[in-house]
Amino acid sequence: MKYLIGIDIGTSSTKTVLFDQNLNIKASSSMDYPIYQPNNGWAEQKPEDWKNAVLKTIRAVIDKSGVSGEDVISVGLSGQMHGLVMLDENNKVIRDAIIWCDQRTSEQCDEITEKIGAERLVEITANPALTGFTASKILWVKNNEEHNYKKCRHILLPKDYIRFILTGEYATDVSDASGMQLMDIKNRCWSDEVLLKLGIDKDMLGRLYESSEITGKITPEAARLTGLGENTVVVGGAGDNAAAAVGTGIVKDGRAFVTIGTSGVVYAHTSKPVIDKKGRVHTFCCAVKGCWHIMGVTQAAGLSLKWFKDNFCADLDLNKDKDIYDTINILAEKSGIGANKLIYLPYLMGERTPHLDADCRGTFFGLSAMHKRADLLRAIFEGVAFSLKDCKDILDEMNILSRTFTVCGGGGKSPVWRQILSDAFNTEVKTISTDEGPALGAAILAGVGAGVFESVEQACENYIKTDIIIKPNKINYEKYLKLHKIYKNLYNSLKDDYKALAQLEI
Ligand code: XUL
Repeated sequence: MKYLIGIDIGTSSTKTVLFDQNLNIKASSSMDYPIYQPNNGWAEQKPEDWKNAVLKTIRAVIDKSGVSGEDVISVGLSGQMHGLVMLDENNKVIRDAIIWCDQRTSEQCDEITEKIGAERLVEITANPALTGFTASKILWVKNNEEHNYKKCRHILLPKDYIRFILTGEYATDVSDASGMQLMDIKNRCWSDEVLLKLGIDKDMLGRLYESSEITGKITPEAARLTGLGENTVVVGGAGDNAAAAVGTGIVKDGRAFVTIGTSGVVYAHTSKPVIDKKGRVHTFCCAVKGCWHIMGVTQAAGLSLKWFKDNFCADLDLNKDKDIYDTINILAEKSGIGANKLIYLPYLMGERTPHLDADCRGTFFGLSAMHKRADLLRAIFEGVAFSLKDCKDILDEMNILSRTFTVCGGGGKSPVWRQILSDAFNTEVKTISTDEGPALGAAILAGVGAGVFESVEQACENYIKTDIIIKPNKINYEKYLKLHKIYKNLYNSLKDDYKALAQLEI
């Protein structure tokens, strides 16, 4: 029997899963790490934390499963997208990574738009300049930390830093690299024009691969640290959303998923590189060769609930017999539809779809003395669903329609959140039988690269099975339409005040 490993380097944790060649789970291990927020709207992580988590969890799955590292033939990587890791000439990390939800780069986005031209930028990179994307982060370091930029020899995304640790190769894959804003998305290559105009040296970027291509082998040092064999290969892998798409079978036109992880995403597969001219949703290369995906992003989905849980629910954690999220689900369910007329805007880290606004912030609207913690929790579930509905509505507008959404991510495990999504979207929502999402997707890509599976599509057809199907409740849908209307108006009413607050010197 041969084995595959899928590793997902997420924002709150790294999860490593060891599968046999029929994609049965043999062992899994995960490890958490913090996000650092030195300023309002900033977000950084330590690449060293990712590295430790990956090395330890690989070792753990090998030990737990009793599988010999030599029999793990291939590893696939999935990772949080857009993060900037800079290495010096000795391959030392120069500064903490500036990650996807960091919002400090509005000025650099203006600079990018000015240098390339708004229309041309969308034409090449399929997106307007975005604070979340890597290009603006690179320019921020160039403009604000010249001493660091001078030392920089290699620019890597989070999962590609891990690839470097495992294989010694500087490489990336087309799906993750799409989020750097340095690629020609239609032609699946680095854009010389963008690089030249932004003054970024192509030699600093990794070599580009398709997601299932082999990018290198485990080094003797990594073999010693993890227990993997030196013949184990590492394939391109994918950004976490493109990897989750593979892990949930969203690899054909007409299929879509919604994930509630730290961020929330509505994602649809497309065999054509369709672009939203207003740039409200992203078009990226996907992990299926020759195909793309379109996605809208809610910056703080699971993050909204985690923030509330960490700050206001410590007492709920005292019951050691019950998972805190089970208690939260019971409370949110009790509050009922509309959370007793309380609306939450989930803009803790600014918002991408549909506003592209780095300055907006989270808001509870309609607070009354009658509200209880349960209502605030329910409002968070519903506010995130409204933000995801904003994403879905744009996909509908672009004619990228889907009648069913597979749901995944931590939030997808909540039956209450799933029903709210189905009611707000007025579509079926379904789960699949394994909830490994990105790690499973990464393992499938590893299997395709190693020749275990004929293709990504074939592996998905054979192994990804639907579990529960949730049907929308029409009465709730009508109610959510009314609430969503107020939710949408709120942003328009508040946007100038969000800006004023962001600019306030206090
Ligand atoms: C996608 C995005 C997030 C991160 C974190 O554009 O920024 O989904 O990949 O998971």
